[in-house]
Amino acid sequence: MARLDGKVAIITGAASGMGLAGAQLFAREGASVVLTDVVTEALERETAALAESGAQATSSVLDVASPDSWQSAVSEAVTRFGRIDVLVNNAGIHIPKGILEAELDDWNKVLAVNTTGVWLGMKHVIPQMQEQGGGSIVNVSSIAGIVGGLSDAGGAAYSASKGAVRSLTKHAAQWFAKDGIRVNSIHPGAVFTGLAAAAGLTKETMAGQFGSAIPLPPHVGDPEDIGYGMVYLASDESKYVTGEELVIDGGWTTH
Ligand SMILES: NC(=O)c1ccc[n+]([C@@H]2O[C@H](COP(=O)([O-])OP(=O)(O)OC[C@H]3O[C@@H](n4cnc5c(N)ncnc54)[C@H](O)[C@@H]3O)[C@@H](O)[C@H]2O)c1
Repeated sequence: MARLDGKVAIITGAASGMGLAGAQLFAREGASVVLTDVVTEALERETAALAESGAQATSSVLDVASPDSWQSAVSEAVTRFGRIDVLVNNAGIHIPKGILEAELDDWNKVLAVNTTGVWLGMKHVIPQMQEQGGGSIVNVSSIAGIVGGLSDAGGAAYSASKGAVRSLTKHAAQWFAKDGIRVNSIHPGAVFTGLAAAAGLTKETMAGQFGSAIPLPPHVGDPEDIGYGMVYLASDESKYVTGEELVIDGGWTTH
């Protein structure tokens, strides 16, 4: 039996990076996966590739900052698969501006996707999970939500948004445990994905930049390193785990 057999999962920001790695691993472990993103071309291409490999995979265009968008994605998922067992709130953006450089618009954009998007996801999926008698929610924060400064790569709003995801996760874990709903956060360190590439980094420059801070070679993570964490928290292997912070950072926060 595979680790996620029979489970239905919605993953946000699944067209690339960690969300896509998670979707691929979920499908390999037997889950039916709804890949969602705002980037339609990559979303459709990656979903088609998964479906061709024999996976139960569909896509929904979902802007996590829009309540209407959540409403239709959740209703499409329930119509198609009948239930939602797992929600991975993974979509995120980064604007590398500090407290003094950022404008209100930068601040609001980051908070809207990284924090409001996570709240909206839980708000729309939890009633379905309550009706079913349980589920697992995995919120992707960052080590920038635990330790600020260098780990936020210059993004003050980013740190604030990820810190909020960390505390919102614990809030939800307490309030919905009675419904059999587990809520945990993942805190990646430096991982080479589209977000890093958009900031002008390569895997090598990233390892060089953070290498002295990250003790474990190769000093930069792969999207799958986070995807495996998602699989664990989504599966029944973690049935007694809630409100927890899974740090996957090559030892960065051991300092
Ligand atoms: N890469 C890192 O080093 C790192 C470290 C810590 C945390 N994270 C977090 O991991 C998560 C995944 O990031 P990634 O590195 O895989 O980045 P990525 O850019 O590869 O993937 C993020 C995805 O989110 C999507 N997205 C952006 N805005 C959206 C919106 N409004 N609605 C829906 N989807 C939207 C993008 O289109 C993209 O496909 C993010 O929450 C990010 O903050 C990344």
